[in-house]
Amino acid sequence: MSATHTLARTATAALLACVALGANAQATGPIKVGLMLPYSGTYASLGNMIESGFKLYVQEQGGKLGGREIQYFKVDDESEPSKATDNVNKLIKRDQVEVLVGTVHSGVALAMAKAAKDSKTLLIIPNAGADAITGAMCAPNIVRSSFSNWQPGYAMGVVAGQKGVKRAMTLTWNYAAGAESVKGFTQGLEKGGGKVIKDLNLPFPNVEFQALLTEIAAQKPDAVYSFFAGGGAVKFVKDYAAAGLNKTIPLYGPGFLTDGTLEAQGAAAQGMLTTLHYADNLDTPRNNNFRKAFAIAYKAQADVYAVQGYDAAQILGAGLKAVNGDLTKREALTTAMHKTVVDSPRGKFSISPAGNPVQDMYLREVKGNNNEFRSIAVKALADPATGCSM
Ligand code: BEZ
Repeated sequence: MSATHTLARTATAALLACVALGANAQATGPIKVGLMLPYSGTYASLGNMIESGFKLYVQEQGGKLGGREIQYFKVDDESEPSKATDNVNKLIKRDQVEVLVGTVHSGVALAMAKAAKDSKTLLIIPNAGADAITGAMCAPNIVRSSFSNWQPGYAMGVVAGQKGVKRAMTLTWNYAAGAESVKGFTQGLEKGGGKVIKDLNLPFPNVEFQALLTEIAAQKPDAVYSFFAGGGAVKFVKDYAAAGLNKTIPLYGPGFLTDGTLEAQGAAAQGMLTTLHYADNLDTPRNNNFRKAFAIAYKAQADVYAVQGYDAAQILGAGLKAVNGDLTKREALTTAMHKTVVDSPRGKFSISPAGNPVQDMYLREVKGNNNEFRSIAVKALADPATGCSM
């Protein structure tokens, strides 16, 4: 064998050893998780609660999921759909994250889901309810730990129908979450013999409600159904009460209207009824322990967004456990994420084939700073997953 040949063989062997080492380091080093959430604007508090919930679960597992440490990368998506593709690519292409967690706003999440599908990056959605993500856009690498916009809306419609509401008006922000929430409410209400006489809306994230409240006062419906969240929900509930409407026309909504907002809403929110997959005072060891741990870690009370962040980490943890942290075992990983039964502070829930929680919808009533459980409005509600073929 020539000297050149021997040299070439040695170099190849050295290269192969390096590649093997690299691959090994990759399989045992930290997993890169990209948090794309709103850290500014009307949904900023929601983003922070999701991050806190996610990190709490990871900390409870000793800082590791599937035996691997987690390295976080963060992008503030500002709840701005026009920047969403650039923002998600900062995580996918620049930071090369292996898992995406986000986001709150449905319009931003739709762009994230498209980028995740195109790049085959794992995506766990800890809030945004855009129906299409677990409908026509469904994919094995996408799972939601929260809800579809249709779910709490439908449950509130059922409750309103049971309460004898015949003529309702709706008022929301004009984007996917508002429109889909109203669609769910309308379906539930119509089942009970009521109908929506008028839909009102304003652009996200505007909070100039006066003209719309004047129109509601003039129409005198039996009830109003509204989707708002975060800072916008605080202002809306206060304006509704300041206009005196809460005395004569009950204000209903999905629980986002009063979740994480009660200290700021104060008297204006007392007695309000909403539907959601979580209630603060669920008296189970799982919820009590979670709330205690959250309060100790963050000196704050947990809300539904913290629960959804916590459960997003649980879903990722279930997938990683099944493959011992080896992300190259894609099918086993995504199958385990879909098949897991999540032991959530909200109560145990399964995940539909389309990747959305199948869960109880609770009727809650505001008392002090809590959304208190009243009853199960709809048991084990599954989103219709329209258009999903997987
Ligand atoms: C959404 O855009 O899907 C959404 C935002 C805040 C609360 C709930 C849903």
